[in-house]
Amino acid sequence: MDCQKHLFSLHPDVHYLNNAYKGPLLKSGEQAAIHALQRGRNPSDMNIGHFFDLVEEVRTLYGKLVNCNASQVAIVPSTSYGFASALNNVKPKTNGKAITIEDEFPSDFFAIKKWCDTHDNKLEIIGPGTDDRNNIADSWNEKILNSINESTSVVIISSVHWANGINFNLKSIGSKCKEMGAIFIVDGTQSVGSQTMDVQAFNINVLVTAAYKWLLGPYSLCLVYLDDNFNNGTPLEESWMNRTNARDFSNLANYDPNYQPNAARYNMGESSNFILMPIAKEGLRQILNWNTEEIQSYATNLSKPLFDFLNANNKSFSNHLFSLPMPKNINREKLHENLRKRNIILSQRGESLRVSVNIYNDENDIASLIEAIKLAM
Ligand SMILES: Cc1ncc(COP(=O)(O)O)c(C=O)c1O
Repeated sequence: MDCQKHLFSLHPDVHYLNNAYKGPLLKSGEQAAIHALQRGRNPSDMNIGHFFDLVEEVRTLYGKLVNCNASQVAIVPSTSYGFASALNNVKPKTNGKAITIEDEFPSDFFAIKKWCDTHDNKLEIIGPGTDDRNNIADSWNEKILNSINESTSVVIISSVHWANGINFNLKSIGSKCKEMGAIFIVDGTQSVGSQTMDVQAFNINVLVTAAYKWLLGPYSLCLVYLDDNFNNGTPLEESWMNRTNARDFSNLANYDPNYQPNAARYNMGESSNFILMPIAKEGLRQILNWNTEEIQSYATNLSKPLFDFLNANNKSFSNHLFSLPMPKNINREKLHENLRKRNIILSQRGESLRVSVNIYNDENDIASLIEAIKLAM
């Protein structure tokens, strides 16, 4: 796969290594949104299909990306909304517990904390058990697996740690959850769209993905897979759009007691979101076109010279998102100055520098980062 920068409108003089913060807009997404905005000039051009058809397309595309049927996908505004929708329908075990990981993203943490407080379940927070960069993922995964038992009601973790890029072994965690009768909720925000995701193979019950990072989608849209356990659950709100008679505009007050099948009951009100939905569609379409294996291998090849230079391996971390193993003799102040001077944009998360690479980055971005580090040693 070649660099895809030409499909974006990134500043030519900026090295944007921060997709984990916010993915850039595709030119095609921008065009689609402008077109949708202009359609608002004349509502007379709108038909009933405009309220529903694009939503269905986006549900189908996300389903293709994560290996599920479109009917199991809900459209919500944020991950916090997705977690609340799912957790509202998770039954606690008596004297049970929930499990999450240390320094999990706040939207995930507060959702599960509230659920535990409300349902008299204990919250167990699992740390990595080591700070050895080479073994941190193995050690952390093992600790998570050891903590899942018959009393576990629910496990909620990110697929890739948002702060440092550590890869969690979803397949083995999902299979242990299944064995112990625990609901497995995954926050895919930092990996879906860049790594291959398979909700069936990983036994995931709920997968929540904010659209504005690796899905190259808009802010304020989030896609949620909910498995059959949630087909008869209670949604957070009661939108008219989620009833089976919603397309029958002249008959809406003939109140329909039935929700549309499966996950559609969890769609947020005004899920048509005329301006944002076309951006989401373009991002998903493009990612499926590229293929996530190609995207991950592009990121792997691109970041390799950085790890070679730092004399480190990246086996615990994803290749699209990772914390930088800093040389001992680094002058941090000088490094920050070098980054600033060279327009290298990345994130500081806790003590570490978080780098994220995507298909619009090239060798020049990585070479500039290497130079910025070298000149601070
Ligand atoms: C792992 C993870 N989850 C969720 C979010 C965003 O959450 P929300 O949609 O609730 O704003 C982020 C943003 O950085 C994230 O890294």
